[in-house]
Amino acid sequence: MDVSTGRPSAPILRVAGLSKSFFGVPVLQDAALELFPGEVHGLVGENGAGKSTLMKILAGVYERDAGTIEIDGRPVSFTHPVQARRAGLSTVFQEFNLLPERSVAQNIFLGREPRRGLLVNRREMNDATAELLAELGITDIRPTATLASLSVAQQQIVEIAKAVSYDARIISMDEPTAALAGAEVELLYGIIDRLKERGTSILYVSHRLREIFDLCDTVTVLKDGRVVASAPAREFDDASLVRAMVGRPISAYFPDPSPGTAAGIPLLELSGCGNHQLDGVGLTLRAGEIVGVAGLQGSGRTELVEAVFGAAPFTRGSMTLGGRAYNPGSPRDAIRHRVALITEDRKAQGLSLNQSIIDNALSVVRSVHPGRTGAARRDAPNVFSSLEVVARDLDQEVQYLSGGNQQKVVLAKWLAIDPQVVLLDEPTRGIDVGAKVAVYTLMRRLAQEGKAILMVSSELPEVLGMSDRVLVMRDGRLAGELPAGATEEQVLQLATGARGVHS
Ligand SMILES: Nc1ncnc2c1ncn2[C@@H]1O[C@H](COP(=O)(O)OP(=O)(O)OP(=O)(O)O)[C@@H](O)[C@H]1O
Ligand SMILES: [Mg+2]
Repeated sequence: MDVSTGRPSAPILRVAGLSKSFFGVPVLQDAALELFPGEVHGLVGENGAGKSTLMKILAGVYERDAGTIEIDGRPVSFTHPVQARRAGLSTVFQEFNLLPERSVAQNIFLGREPRRGLLVNRREMNDATAELLAELGITDIRPTATLASLSVAQQQIVEIAKAVSYDARIISMDEPTAALAGAEVELLYGIIDRLKERGTSILYVSHRLREIFDLCDTVTVLKDGRVVASAPAREFDDASLVRAMVGRPISAYFPDPSPGTAAGIPLLELSGCGNHQLDGVGLTLRAGEIVGVAGLQGSGRTELVEAVFGAAPFTRGSMTLGGRAYNPGSPRDAIRHRVALITEDRKAQGLSLNQSIIDNALSVVRSVHPGRTGAARRDAPNVFSSLEVVARDLDQEVQYLSGGNQQKVVLAKWLAIDPQVVLLDEPTRGIDVGAKVAVYTLMRRLAQEGKAILMVSSELPEVLGMSDRVLVMRDGRLAGELPAGATEEQVLQLATGARGVHS
C-alpha cells in the first residue's frame, strides 16, 4: 500500500503518452491513466472526447500512434480483442455486436464452445450459461433464448455477462447503461460490486454523472483527446466535473419557457385508445407545449409513442391530428402527417453508417417529403451547429462519428421533415451534458415554433425539468397527470400505485 494514497502501490494497468490521429486529426493526445486492482475508474468527457477510442486501443481494435500500455508492469500491444482477453482485459463495447439469430449461450461462448469430440456440447454450454447468469443475479434471461427475442436492455445485459465470463482482471465498459433503466442499472451495480470484491478492475465510461459518483473511486476527464483532470471521485462534485468536461460552467440546465407562451390549439387528441398493450388512453397535446411521459419500465410509455407513430397502431379508440381523423397504419404514414419519433436506439433508427452525415440527415425527408429536401439541406448547417455536432464536415461518413454524435444525426434527420408533432423516447441517452442542454434548448425552440412535443424519459429530473405537464403511466394506462413543478415523489406515487401517506 502506498500510505499517501491508501492505494495498492502497483497499478494493474498503466497508460502513458497515448496518442492517436484519424486522417491527420488528433483524437487522443498524450493521454495517461493508471488503474489499480479492485478499482472502478470513471472515464468521462464530451461526445467525441476520445473515450471509446482509448478503450478500443486498449482492446486491440485500433492501433496507437504513440504511447505505452502496461499490464502488471509489462508493456503490451494487442492487435485483436482476442489477444487482449487472453491477457486478462475484456471490453463491453459501446456498439455491441451480438449475433441476433443465435442463442444467448451461443453468443456468450462464441469461438470457445465446449465440445464433445467435434460437436459443440450444447448441454454443457447451456448449463454453464445458466450458472453464469445465476451467479450474476440475472433471472429473466434463458440461455436458449435467441438474442433477437430479447429487449435491447436484455441484450446489453448479455453483452456484459459475456465480458464478465472471461474472468478478466480488467474490464472496460463503454456506456454499459446506455440502454438500461431502473432495475437493470441496479443489476449492473450489483455485478460491479461483485467484480470489485474479486479484485477485478473496471474502467467505466458513462454520461450519467450519478453513476460516476455512485460507482467510481477515481475519475479521469478527457477533453478534446487530452486528460484535463484525474482525481479521486470524492474530490469532484457535479458542478466541478461538468466544468472539467465542458470547459465552462453550466448554469441553467433546463431552459425556461419564454414568458407569455401559452399552449395553443389542440394538435393531437387521443380518446379511449388501446391495443394489446395499452388501454383507455385519452390525452390532448397542444401546439407549443412539452408534455412529459413518466412511468416504470414496461408501463407502456414506449408503446404509447409507437402507437401514435403507427409502428404498433392502436386497435381501439380514436385519434385526431389537427382536428382530422388520424389513423397511421405505419411509420411512413405518420411521417407523411409530419409526426416524428426520435428514440435512443441508434441501430433501430437505421443510420446508414457508410453514408455521409448530410445524406443521413436528409434520408427521411427525401423519401417522404421530397419537396422539402432543398429547404432541409439549407437548414442543415444551422441544425448541426445548434446540436454541437463534432465532425470534420457534413460529408464525413457517420461511422466515423462518436456514439453521441451519431445520436445527434438521428435528431437532425427527424427535424428535417419539419414535424408538427415530435415524439421523443429517451432523447438524451448517450449525449454529453453540454449537448443535453443544447437538445433541451432545441426542444423549447420547437415548442415556441408551435410544435407539440411528447417526451418519454426515465430520467425524472429531465421529465420534471422540461415538461409543462407530466403524464404518468402504469400498466398500459394513464395513471394521472401532474402540473409543472410536481415532485419526483408524486410521479413515483402515481407510477407505482403506492398510496400517499396523506391521501
Ligand atoms: N474510425 C474512425 N475514423 C475516423 N474518426 C474517428 C474514428 N473513430 C473515432 N473517430 C473520431 O474520433 C473522435 C473521438 O471519438 P470517440 O468515439 O472516441 O469519442 P467518445 O468520447 O467515445 O464520444 P461519445 O461520448 O459520443 O461516445 C471523434 O471526433 C470521432 O469522430
Ligand atoms: Mg464513445
